[in-house]
Amino acid sequence: MSQLLRKKSLDLILADAEEPEHQMKRALGPLQLIALGIGAIVGAGIFATIGTAAAGGAHHEGAGPALVVSILITAVGCGFCALCYAEFASIVPIAGSAYTYSYATLGEFVAWIIGWDLIIEYAMGNVAVAVTWSGYFVELLRGLGVTVPPWMSTDLTTALKTPGFMDAAPHVAGIPIVLNIPAAAITLLLTWLLVIGIKESARFNTAMVFVKLVILLFFIVVGATYVKPAHWHPFAPNGWTGIGTGAALIFFAYIGFDAVSTAAEECKNPQKDMPIGMIGSLAICTVLYVAASLVLTGMVSLDAIRGSDEPLAKAFSLIGINWAAGIVAFGAVVATTAVLLVFQYGQARIFFSMARDGLLPPAFAKIHPKYKTPYINTIWIGVVVAGLSAFANLDVFIELTNIGTLFAFILVCIGIMVLRRTDPDRKRSFRTPLVPLTPILGILICLYLIVGIPMIENGRLVRSGGLPIETWIRFVVWLVLGLVIYFSYGFRKSRLAQKP
Ligand code: ALA
Repeated sequence: MSQLLRKKSLDLILADAEEPEHQMKRALGPLQLIALGIGAIVGAGIFATIGTAAAGGAHHEGAGPALVVSILITAVGCGFCALCYAEFASIVPIAGSAYTYSYATLGEFVAWIIGWDLIIEYAMGNVAVAVTWSGYFVELLRGLGVTVPPWMSTDLTTALKTPGFMDAAPHVAGIPIVLNIPAAAITLLLTWLLVIGIKESARFNTAMVFVKLVILLFFIVVGATYVKPAHWHPFAPNGWTGIGTGAALIFFAYIGFDAVSTAAEECKNPQKDMPIGMIGSLAICTVLYVAASLVLTGMVSLDAIRGSDEPLAKAFSLIGINWAAGIVAFGAVVATTAVLLVFQYGQARIFFSMARDGLLPPAFAKIHPKYKTPYINTIWIGVVVAGLSAFANLDVFIELTNIGTLFAFILVCIGIMVLRRTDPDRKRSFRTPLVPLTPILGILICLYLIVGIPMIENGRLVRSGGLPIETWIRFVVWLVLGLVIYFSYGFRKSRLAQKP
């Protein structure tokens, strides 16, 4: 038991990061951190999931124009969590995000669970983003007159559900070939960029962030001139159930502000800049999302965009301005590229920290002699994400990413309360206001997004909002797998086990 609770002291964490063989370049300032945050936040969520969240999908009721309420609930919840993340990041300015913070506060076992859970947020989330990227990219090519054959741009689940799809696909040795080549290709390309180095990648990211903000503003400003307030009635067609489900889905559009904290070891002044980076990017995105959702639901009827994977572009097509639809599609490709980049980056840094602590094989902590990046794990993650995205179904990965991330956020909120008790005197350059109220509210909103509100209806237990039970089951299976790996490897190989 005491082994499971063994903690890496903050002093040891800081000392490990100073070891010369584990040094990364300190190249990032506050504006680059905000750009890193927006780079991770604005992506598939606002360009694609917004449609399902507003209009509903095969298994979900939509929020309708009341999606703006869903967005605000989610934003407030993320805000509470960000305030907790910011305090952690200001105490532990080290690569690894919530994983490292919890290692210092809640002990190795919880840290492992969080690190393992963050793989869902970053790597599985990126599978969903890569699939979205591919969809928009194929649409963009179609607009330019190039048709990508469906067998090389469709996921396996969709292919199996579509009658005749498998028969029409090319066969090799009698086996039909169906895979999402663009999704895998973009992942591998960005992996290469990340191996080459953070400075170059950050510059590339800043340019992409600029483009996607301009294009989102373009949607809002041009779209606003087509808004008919009649479309906002009824405001909440599915009541609180629709609003709750919408919030649980649109949460995907907020994931990413925490990715800023994974860069702590590579920024110039982490103590001050981390909170600015996280909360700044969250605030900017909330303003944009509220505006975009009001414009989208005011421009067209929900029936018209239901089932579309590119609702913002489709809204423009429906009112007959195809050139604007093309610009939005281009923006979506750029936006999702930036998200992929930040998430691949973040995942590699988390693996790096876990390997440095001995919980994963040491090769994952190796730094490239010339580029100073954790190249082995970057390549590894790139290959796995590319492989999965070649076959993955979008909805499954969006929901799985949301539950994994919400769980990590809950643990971070708990961590901040624990740390205030166990280490009250530690210097904090940023203090979460109103502890324990802030973390408790963060936890409650995250729980609401996962579970919804249980109630009895006609003698049966039903939930209003929340994520599907299948998603819970997948998540539990993932956690159990993580436990097996921890007890067969990390528990014994941990660096803390070597230096008692
Ligand atoms: N927030 C990121 C996106 O929307 C994950 O794509």
